[in-house]
Amino acid sequence: MHFEQDVKPLFREQDRDAMTFAFDLWSFDDVSAHANAILGRLEAGTMPCDGAWPAERIAVFRRWIDAGKPA
Ligand code: HEM
Repeated sequence: MHFEQDVKPLFREQDRDAMTFAFDLWSFDDVSAHANAILGRLEAGTMPCDGAWPAERIAVFRRWIDAGKPA
C-alpha cells in the first residue's frame, strides 16, 4: 500500500476541488493528518457529497491506515 499508487487515485479531481477548504485530498501530508475524519465520513456514507463509496473502495482506504499510512 502506497499513497500515490493506491490512495490518491481514489479521490477524483472534483473531490479534491470540493474539499480544498478543509484539506488537499491529493496531498499525502493532509490525507494522513485527516485520515480518521475522512474514514469516518466514508463509512458514514456522508462523503463524497454525491454518493457513498462501495464497501470495497472504503476497505482500500482503511487498509492503508491499518498499514501505518505509508507514503
Ligand atoms: C472522497 C471524497 C471526499 C471526502 C473523503 C470528503 C471528506 C470530508 C470530511 C472529512 C469533511 C469534514 C471536514 C471538516 O469538518 O473539517 C467534509 C466536509 C464537507 N464536504 Fe467533503 N469529502 C469528499 C468529497 C466531497 C464532495 C464531492 C463534496 C461536494 C461537492 C463535498 C462537500 C463537503 C462539504 C460542503 C463539507 C462541509 C459540510 C459538512 O461537514 O458536511 N465533499 N468532507
